This record gives sequence, C-alpha cells and structure tokens, in this order.
Amino acid sequence: MKYSAPRGTRDYLPPYSTAMREVVRRASEVLESYAFLPVDTPIFEASELFVRSIGEQTDIVSKEMYTFADRKGRQLTLRPEGTASVVRAYLENGLEQLGVERLYYVGPMFRYERPQAGRQRQFLQLGVEIFADPGPEVDAEVIQLLMAICQAVGLTGLTVQLNSLGCPACRAGYSDSVKAALASRISSLCPECVQRLEKNPLRVLDCKVERCTDAFSEVPSIQESLCGACREHFESVRSLLGRLDIPFTLDPRLVRGLDYYTRTAFEVQIPGATGAQNAVGGGGRYDLLVEQLGGKPTPAVGFAIGLERLLSLVQSQGVDILPPGGKLVYLAATSAEGRARALELASALRARRVACLIDRSRGANLGKQFKQAGRMGARAVAVLGDDEVEKRAVAVKDMVTREQVTVPMERAVEQILAVLARVETPAGKVERS
Ligand code: HAM
Repeated sequence: MKYSAPRGTRDYLPPYSTAMREVVRRASEVLESYAFLPVDTPIFEASELFVRSIGEQTDIVSKEMYTFADRKGRQLTLRPEGTASVVRAYLENGLEQLGVERLYYVGPMFRYERPQAGRQRQFLQLGVEIFADPGPEVDAEVIQLLMAICQAVGLTGLTVQLNSLGCPACRAGYSDSVKAALASRISSLCPECVQRLEKNPLRVLDCKVERCTDAFSEVPSIQESLCGACREHFESVRSLLGRLDIPFTLDPRLVRGLDYYTRTAFEVQIPGATGAQNAVGGGGRYDLLVEQLGGKPTPAVGFAIGLERLLSLVQSQGVDILPPGGKLVYLAATSAEGRARALELASALRARRVACLIDRSRGANLGKQFKQAGRMGARAVAVLGDDEVEKRAVAVKDMVTREQVTVPMERAVEQILAVLARVETPAGKVERS
C-alpha cells in the first residue's frame, strides 16, 4: 500500500521548510521589539470553546471543524484558530494577575475546507493577542506590527483593508438595516443566507454565492450604524494609521468570518487577488470575548497571519528568503583512523556551533569527496587523508579562494575558523570572491 499525506495537508521539505523557519525567525525578532511573549496552547480543545467564541452560524463552526469524541466520549476539536485557546489560557492561568498582556504563537490550525491554492486543511498561523487595552493606539499598533512582519520578510505593495464592526448596540441597529435591505431579495438568496438573515444577519456578508453577493449592493454600510463612541474610536484608529504612514482602504463589507469581533476589523490582502484566499492575515478587536468565556470585562485585540500564504507571496514577489549559507565545513577522510579523527574534529567545531558534515562515502577518493563538498556548498574542507593522519595534521582548504594550508591537528579549529571568518565582510555581506 502506498501512503500519501491526507488531502489538504502537505509536507514541509527543504528548502521550503528552511524558508519557513526564516520567516518565523524574522517575525519573532519584530515581535520582540513590540514586547510580545510566546505562548503555546494545546492543538485540541473542548469543542464548546470554539462554538461559543467563533459562533455557531460561522462557516468555521458549522462546516469546517475537525471534531471527534475521545475514548471517554469528550467532544474535542482540532483548533481552527488560536484566539479562543489563548483567551482560555489567559483566564485559566490568571495571566491578568501576572501582568502578562502581549502574547504570540506559531502553530498549525485545522479547517475542513475544500483544498485549493492558498487553502489547506492544516495550515500554519502566526498570531498575536493583546489584552486589557481599550485604546485606539493599540489597534494602530497591531496593524503596524502586521505590516512590519510583512516588511521584515521582504514584501512590498501591501495595503490594509479596514472596517469597524461596532459594539452590540450598533450591531443591533445594523442587523435590522441588513434585514430590511434584503427583505425584498429573500427569494434570490441562497438557503443558508435565508437562515443567517434570521439568526445572525451580519454573517450574510460572508457568503460567496454570486446571487447573494449581487444582492449585497442593497445593504447599507455598517459605518452608518456606528454609535458615537464606536465612531470616535474608529476615527482615532484611522488618524493614528495616517500618522504612522500606514496605507489603508476602508471596506464596509469586511465582516471577518468569526463572531467575536467588535469595533476595528482589518485584513492585509494579496494585491490583485480576489476570492476567499486573498487575505495574508487579519484580525481585530474582540472586547467582549474574555467576559463571554467567564472572565472580567477585558478588552482585547489581535491578528493572525497565514504563514503558507505569506511565504507564497514572498516567493511570487521573487524575494530570496533563505538565510545566507556558506558556513558549512566538510570533513574528508580516507581511512578508519581518519574518520575517527574527523569525528573528534567535528565535535570540537560543533561545540563552537560550526556546521560540519563528515564524508559518508567510506573510502571514496579525495577528488570525489571534494566534489561532494562542493555540491553541499561547503566553504571549507578539512582533509584527513593518509599523509595527514601519519603526521597528525589537517589540510584545510578554502573552497572559494582555493587556498590550502596544512596545520597540526591542535590548530585545525583555529585555521577553519579563520577561513569561515572570511564569509562575512565588514558590512555583514556574504563575500563572493
Ligand atoms: P482568520 O482570518 O480566520 O483569523 O485567519 C487568519 C489567516 O489564516 C488568514 O488571513 C489566512 O492567511 C490564514 N488561513 C485561514 N484559513 C486558511 C486555510 N484554510 N489555509 C491556509 N491559510 C488559512 C483568525 O484565525 C483569527 N484568530 C485572527 C485573530 C487573532 N483575530 C484576533 N486575534
């Protein structure tokens, strides 16, 4: 029997996996400059947690969750997103009392969607959540952070889509307007939208069915229904984004696919892309969720980036994200004693965090071993041939300058480090001589 990865999942292989690590490394550097701390939560949670936070009428809960009963009959779900879990962890561990307010996470999420380009059933998200800050400044700050991460991986030309979803008071009025606007079009809506219109009118705006989206031209903008306080908050966010030079476009139809949002909602979309897979990342405020899940009223805001979408955009913009290589040392040997010494030398080098690879050919001639070193992109080759073994020496060859120096075994590490030091020029650039 032949096995393959389940539909909608993939293997992350080099060099893709290396590039993905580099994306996360660069993002983590940015996150540290915003004083975020890492958090990891379980991959599965009680199903009820997601139903209550994301909302029963959403596509995620009604169609896309991987839910199963464990051996004791508990209903569990593979997490479709990170926010609900982080709020649960925040409350369960009393993070508020510890003063922990800024958290970030990187990990797999699971949604049973129809797989296509940019849409998988298991995908990676990098997400952030900030608790206990109601101010518009923090909304602007997270949007800036999302853009800063995109910039750190080399992306250009991205803009933010922005909307305000108001508070429950504004939303009640807006739900009535949506219902009234679509009342005469009910017969042309899909059966799901007819249901949504009854139970959760805002969710109608998520529908991708053409005859429904056609009808949406009748729906007024939510901004007309905002109460005074929500309007003021939204104006401040827009003005702060202007002061931070962050380009944004108002999108009154942006409702996001999760029920917990209040006030600011945003997405960073792939330029020129349309349809459901056009968002690299998105988020917003969710000032009521902590309370809904049993905590004290605690405002919160956050976002998540889809890392596969981010990386595919990096690749389509032709950005080289792979970390500069060129520091590998290849150890070549021609006898059992040579290989044993190579193992000792590699161990000394690795203690200095130098990447080494010992030849695996067991006796291929040195020419072949040098060829293999070249294929692996080694900068230095340390030769432990018969002559060197006899003289307790090592020949160190710089694969770029072709210079070769033979030194006593005790000086091998020093000589190799000297060759590797040439990799970095004073400006920190990779030398190409
Ligand atoms: P979301 O918009 O559902 O938000 O997901 C965030 C990002 O995850 C999307 O913009 C997209 O890049 C990626 N994504 C979603 N579904 C898939 C998929 N099937 N395949 C590949 N990538 C996908 C959230 O999940 C919220 N928890 C964000 C948030 C955090 N809001 C506040 N805090």
